[in-house]
Amino acid sequence: MSLINLIDFPTLGDERGSLVALENSNNVPFDIKRVYYIYGTAQGVARGFHAHKALQQLAICIKGCCRFVMDDGVNKEEIILSSPLKGLFINSMQWHEMYDFSADCILLVLASEVYDENDYIRNYESFIEGLPYV
Ligand code: TYD
Repeated sequence: MSLINLIDFPTLGDERGSLVALENSNNVPFDIKRVYYIYGTAQGVARGFHAHKALQQLAICIKGCCRFVMDDGVNKEEIILSSPLKGLFINSMQWHEMYDFSADCILLVLASEVYDENDYIRNYESFIEGLPYV
């Protein structure tokens, strides 16, 4: 299975402009318990560098662009997110890194759980050791 799982959102726009609706269990494959957004990212900054034990997330670049690297411990795949009509599904146990944020980038993230630092795996060796097939 590809490491890049994109969900397309229909636009409900009309002559006034665009509108996108995200709904639990409809175009979001989990119940949304938390929403956060990353913006004003300084040039050259890279973020992420972790996996989650259980958390599932959907990342949508609603303005500007940024690059994601997805890594399952064996393969890595990269994608540029640059559309408010596409969500990148970040499954549990997917190491992810984000780079090349445009100055105007607003990255919206929907999450299946509230924030829990204990759900993070921030050490790459620990991530590899925690994989079921290692
Ligand atoms: P972190 O997840 O490390 O950011 P990234 O992976 O995007 O580089 O989060 C940065 C800080 O913000 C860290 O101290 C935890 C805190 N934080 C929350 O308190 N709540 C949240 O929902 C998130 C995502 C982070």
